[in-house]
Amino acid sequence: SSLNRNTEYVIVGGGNAAGYAAKAFVDNDQAAGKLAIISSEEVAPYERPTLSKGYLFPIKGDAKPPRLPGFHTTVGTGGERQTPEWYEQKGIELLLGTTISGLDLSKKELTTSKGDTLSYKKLIVATGSTASRLPEKIGGALPGVNYIRNVADADGLVKDFQNAKKVVVIGGGYIGMEVSAAALAWGLDVTLIFPEPHFMPRLFTPGIAAHYHKLYESLGANFVTGASVERFEAGPDGRVAKAIASNKQEYDADLIVVGVGAKPAVQLFLDAGLDEEAKGIKVNDQLQSSNPDVYAIGDTAAFPIKILGSTSRVEHVDHARKSAAHVVKAILDGSGEGYDYLPYFYSRVFEHPGTARKVWWQFYGENKGEVVDVGDFDPKLAAFWVDEGTLKGVFLESGAPEEFKLLPEIARMRPKIDIDELKKADTVEKALE
Ligand code: FDA
Ligand code: NAD
Repeated sequence: SSLNRNTEYVIVGGGNAAGYAAKAFVDNDQAAGKLAIISSEEVAPYERPTLSKGYLFPIKGDAKPPRLPGFHTTVGTGGERQTPEWYEQKGIELLLGTTISGLDLSKKELTTSKGDTLSYKKLIVATGSTASRLPEKIGGALPGVNYIRNVADADGLVKDFQNAKKVVVIGGGYIGMEVSAAALAWGLDVTLIFPEPHFMPRLFTPGIAAHYHKLYESLGANFVTGASVERFEAGPDGRVAKAIASNKQEYDADLIVVGVGAKPAVQLFLDAGLDEEAKGIKVNDQLQSSNPDVYAIGDTAAFPIKILGSTSRVEHVDHARKSAAHVVKAILDGSGEGYDYLPYFYSRVFEHPGTARKVWWQFYGENKGEVVDVGDFDPKLAAFWVDEGTLKGVFLESGAPEEFKLLPEIARMRPKIDIDELKKADTVEKALE
């Protein structure tokens, strides 16, 4: 094997966080001959959010959906495109198609699923999440039932979109919202089934969600809310043919997309003895685990979110990027300032050429307290969360670039605010004043 068996810094996982950590090691002149990245995937780290957005563009006319190597990290933040050649040029050992299956904390040694071993001085866990699957006994593994986490999954989905007519999407979270928008752009008949009363129940207010439901319905989507899927049934060809929901209705489908959440891929590290929190690896504000030579970043890390005063994981790309930059600083400089993350989530749908108007939103802060919706979907809409007189969270849909720029400042500042005054604002512009 080509394994360099004794590397100073080893990153397990080759996703969003790993790509940005590699950049930070390079920027600090600490990569060449010192850094190895081991990834189960066959491709170098890429910007995962593309997979449920541009990647799924219908291939029509001049539309050229993004494909690798176009969206390797760090192009999502305007950085260099880190292709496999880039890693080679920088002297980084990038081991693709290789899965780590064991860790011995006392020997500081990792084992690959092929039985090779390699040791580290400092280990960074960046194994991300896997898509939660529906049980096989209810048809969750039938041909035609898709999950989406990596490029291989997205390729399979694009192929299925080309042949499908009726799609049933399970789940009303990020994947449900983004993938059903793509399916509508392909001109497919789309039914969404999820247990909550509306889209994105953990973040959207009923007011925000109502606008989204109206838009999706105007494009032909059918919402089945307050119901979960009981089972999938195959047709004579063995492929999935229908979804049966808890409301006892049957929905014909030649394609199912499941987006029912993700699980951090950390079991082997917890089994090795690292402390657990929030289903992930517990780390301090230097992203260091209960073992001082092991760090965790991205989806795997349960870290102190200072502004919220709580410890949790964040399954979003902005944190993957920022925790990656921070961990390299922590490893190279020792005790600098702690990681101080401001939660930031976003989505974009219908950006496909020739489809409905593009809609995009951003949220910063904490969705805690009483919420005030301001403005109409046309042309834009905002929501403000006010907790005991303090503004804690802000959501903006279809704002101007300079308005979006205000959001992190407002959410970080946490101004005192008179909620009755805010309720009087009839436009987003007035509310942001
Ligand atoms: P990530 O999942 O990116 O990478 C983990 C890597 O580790 C993978 O390559 C995996 O194969 C590898 N691995 C796992 N176990 C291993 C082992 N034992 N050995 C070797 N390798 C192993 N967020 C956002 O803010 N905005 C958005 O629009 C989107 N959109 C989006 C779309 C889709 C389809 C998904 C699946 C996710 C998003 N996200 C998102 C979430 C965002 O992509 C996610 O939070 C980051 O990718 C997390 O980065 P990580 O590096 O932690 O994990
Ligand atoms: P999610 O947690 O956003 O949403 C899951 C949805 O599935 C929820 O509405 C939930 O109630 C529903 N659900 C759960 N069990 C169900 C069942 N049995 N039947 C029907 N519905 C059920 O998760 P996701 O949308 O699957 O996304 C997966 C991961 O990818 C997450 O980490 C997410 O953060 C990430 N992601 C993020 C973005 C973004 O930030 N724009 C985009 C895509 C994916």
